[in-house]
Amino acid sequence: MRAETGGLIDKVVIVTGAGRGIGQATALALGRAGARLIVNGIDAGALDETVAALAEIGAPHVRVAGSVADWGVAEALTAQAVERFGRLDGLVNNAGLHYQAMPWEEDEAQVRSTVEANVLGSMFCGIHAIRAMRGQGHGAIVNLSSGAMLGSDARGIYSATKAAVATLSFGWARDLAGTGIRVNALAPHAATRMTEGEQLAGPERIAPVICHLLSDGSHDVSGRFFRYNGHELSEIVPARKGTLQIPLDADTPDDVAAAFAKLAAIPA
Ligand SMILES: NC(=O)c1ccc[n+]([C@@H]2O[C@H](COP(=O)([O-])OP(=O)(O)OC[C@H]3O[C@@H](n4cnc5c(N)ncnc54)[C@H](O)[C@@H]3O)[C@@H](O)[C@H]2O)c1
Repeated sequence: MRAETGGLIDKVVIVTGAGRGIGQATALALGRAGARLIVNGIDAGALDETVAALAEIGAPHVRVAGSVADWGVAEALTAQAVERFGRLDGLVNNAGLHYQAMPWEEDEAQVRSTVEANVLGSMFCGIHAIRAMRGQGHGAIVNLSSGAMLGSDARGIYSATKAAVATLSFGWARDLAGTGIRVNALAPHAATRMTEGEQLAGPERIAPVICHLLSDGSHDVSGRFFRYNGHELSEIVPARKGTLQIPLDADTPDDVAAAFAKLAAIPA
C-alpha cells in the first residue's frame, strides 16, 4: 500500500546500488511513499529482486543495470527519468564498494575499482542529474559518505573515497546555492553485507532519513553532513578555516616547533 505522507508522492528519484542493503531499503521506502523510481545496480540478479518488490508495492519504476562509474550508465539514469517520467527530483548516490586492507597490502585493481565506484560514480551520476535539475529549477541529492572518513582501521582507501564524497557535497551545495538544488551527505551505519558481523540496526532504519533529505520537508537543508545509525542522529561539521589560528612568522625551526606545541595545546 502507498502511504500518502512525507511529501514524496510522484517525485522521480534515482537510487544507485539499489540491489541490496541501504539502496534497496531506500528504493522500497520511496516506493511506499509514492515516489517513482529509477533503480540501478551492478549486480543484475540483485537488482531484479528490488524491481520485483517495487512491482509488488505498485511503485512505478525503471531498471538501469550497470556500473555508476560508466559515464554512459550515469547519463542513462537521468535520461530515463526525464524520458519516462518527465523530470528528475532526486538522486541517491548510494552505490559503493568497501574492503579492508593495510596500506602495504593494497592491490592496484581493488584501489582503482573502489575509487571508480565510490568517487567517479557519485560524480558522474551527480553531474548528469544536476544538468537536468538546473533546467527544472529544483532537485535534491543525497550522497552516501561514511564516518570512516574521519579515520578508520585498515580502510585508508575506502575512507578517502568517502571523504571525497563529503567534499563533493559541500562544494556542489555552494555551487548550486540559489538554484533550488540541494546537496547533502549522510554517513550511515547499518547491518548490510558491508558491515557483516557487526551488531547494527537494519538498513530500513536508514531509509527514512534519506527520504526526509529528498523531501520538501528539508527544503532549506543543503551543504550539510549528517550521521545516523538507526538510533542517533548527529551532524559532522567540517573544520572551519581559521578556528585554530595562532600567530607564526617563522624564522627558525624552533619558532615552528613552538607554534606547533601551542597549536597542540588548544583543546579540539
Ligand atoms: N552499511 C553501513 O554501515 C555503511 C557505513 C558507511 C557508509 N555506507 C555507505 O552506504 C552505501 C550503501 O552501502 P550498504 O551498506 O548498503 O552496502 P552493500 O554492499 O549492501 O550495497 C552496496 C550496493 O552498491 C552496489 N554497487 C557497488 N559498486 C557499484 C557500481 N560500480 N555501480 C552500481 N552499483 C554498485 C552493490 O552491488 C550493492 O548493491 C555505500 O556507499 C556505503 O559506502 C554504509
